[in-house]
Amino acid sequence: MREPEANSVIRNICCIGAGYVGGPTMAVVADRCPLIQVKVVDINQKRIDAWNQNDLSKLPVYEPGLDLVVSRARNRNLYFSVDVQGAIAEADMVFISVNTPTKTKGLGAGKASDLRWVEACARQVANFAQGHTIVVEKSTLPVRTAEVIKTILEAAQTSHQNDSNSSTFEVLSNPEFLAEGSAIKDLEEPDRVLIGGESSEAIEALASIYKNWVPEQKILRTNIWSSELAKLTANAFLAQRISSINSIGALCEATGADVREVARAIGTDSRIGSKFLDAGPGFGGSCFKKDILNLVYLSRHFGLPEVADFWEGVVELNTWHQHRISRLVVKKLFGTLSGKRVAILGFAFKANTNDTRETSAINIAKDLLDEGALLSIHDPKVAPAQIALDLGLEEMKPSKSFGSKSSGTSNEGTWWFSEEISEVCSGADAILILTEWYQYSQINWIEISKNMRNPAWVFDARSIVNSEKVLSAGLQFWRVGDGSAEVR
Ligand code: NAD
Ligand code: UDX
Repeated sequence: MREPEANSVIRNICCIGAGYVGGPTMAVVADRCPLIQVKVVDINQKRIDAWNQNDLSKLPVYEPGLDLVVSRARNRNLYFSVDVQGAIAEADMVFISVNTPTKTKGLGAGKASDLRWVEACARQVANFAQGHTIVVEKSTLPVRTAEVIKTILEAAQTSHQNDSNSSTFEVLSNPEFLAEGSAIKDLEEPDRVLIGGESSEAIEALASIYKNWVPEQKILRTNIWSSELAKLTANAFLAQRISSINSIGALCEATGADVREVARAIGTDSRIGSKFLDAGPGFGGSCFKKDILNLVYLSRHFGLPEVADFWEGVVELNTWHQHRISRLVVKKLFGTLSGKRVAILGFAFKANTNDTRETSAINIAKDLLDEGALLSIHDPKVAPAQIALDLGLEEMKPSKSFGSKSSGTSNEGTWWFSEEISEVCSGADAILILTEWYQYSQINWIEISKNMRNPAWVFDARSIVNSEKVLSAGLQFWRVGDGSAEVR
């Protein structure tokens, strides 16, 4: 670790929003900049209490390494609180890191970002900031949102012109590129830090914070609109690769090719690169779909329908692919799931996170429930209460819904949860792997197969299990994008 930058003009940071981005990002900033006081504030008291509790295994966000970072900085120069007003008043720099979900109603519903929380933050900063404050957009925002924030702040500036405590503002865009599950590593060793703004003084103030641990050549400065658009574009390009490889996976299954071999063959072309070419059950997470739909909305708004259609196709392919997997499971199980047991391994949208936002497991599980399946669900980090919320259906424990191994002909889909992989698989007609948790790659298939109902299937939508071991345990096997398995 380098010596802290002594020339930073920033002494007090406030971050509004203690979620998946605000919490880990500020924990790393505080850890790397011991001379800066960092206050993370949120309106959600429960979330703040969870950040403050002693048991570090129960932080509200699960991220490998986060507990250590928090333990080093918390109550030294990192604080979590609901005192939004007080933290803004003390701050030289305010990060806005609140949620920006897709609008559910009104103009742009289903595509545009809902900016009500960002606007509320801008108004809070306008009301409570003292002296000169740099406001940093950390949330992912549509292009030109900085203008909205600036307008709100300038209105406050004008109305307080004659006060003794008149305040001034600069707005910067500093989008976050961390991926969940690897957030701490991404924050500690970022590929780049992007800062967009008009005032070079404000840009350098923010850069001086990052310079405590990020090499200068990785700190990119752009104008504010490029910075906002670069964030949406990065997510759109990444998601596009996943839809591309999943579309080819479907073709592989139809033709006898293997998508993993195709991915390896194209990934060695240095112009294409090998990352983000893993076929799976479709992309999930809170960002990709939301940010692409935002790009679609902006493109249409600016009179570019062809551009909008191009990007919308990435999301449409993803949704089609999720339903394709559930249809395939139904087909392999003789066209009906009524009264059949399907064990779902993994509900988080990827491994090493407890986040289920937009996880493919939601669409796939709902399809299977519609078919009358009796689902038993396992995930090492997701709580059953979250699954109930996501599925819009209460958990029904096995004793009530079905006997240990028997299957009836009920048409009502139900689900239950267990922390034991062997328990969810016991009595199952099929196992469907939806998240690439390491423990699923280590399953002893001989043991598991003993308690399944024959002819039993394993559907590996993440391509993580050893097919030979599954087959030699007498189980039938399907793997995403593997046409050679289809013709076996
Ligand atoms: P989140 O929902 O986990 O957290 C947002 C928090 O903001 C919530 O706890 C909420 O209570 C709080 N909040 C909302 N309005 C508030 C207000 N007026 N005052 C105080 N607190 C308020 O969201 P997130 O996943 O952390 O995402 C935040 C932003 O970062 C989004 O724009 C998202 O697109 C972007 N982003 C997310 C990721 C990711 O991996 N999750 C990565 C990069 C960028
Ligand atoms: C993404 C971006 O990667 C990150 O830069 C941005 O800041 C936030 O959005 P995140 O959604 O947390 O991060 O995870 P990511 O690793 O990108 O995975 C997104 C989804 O794509 C997951 O469901 C993952 O399983 C899936 N995926 C990823 C694949 O199906 N195949 C791949 O090759 C890579």
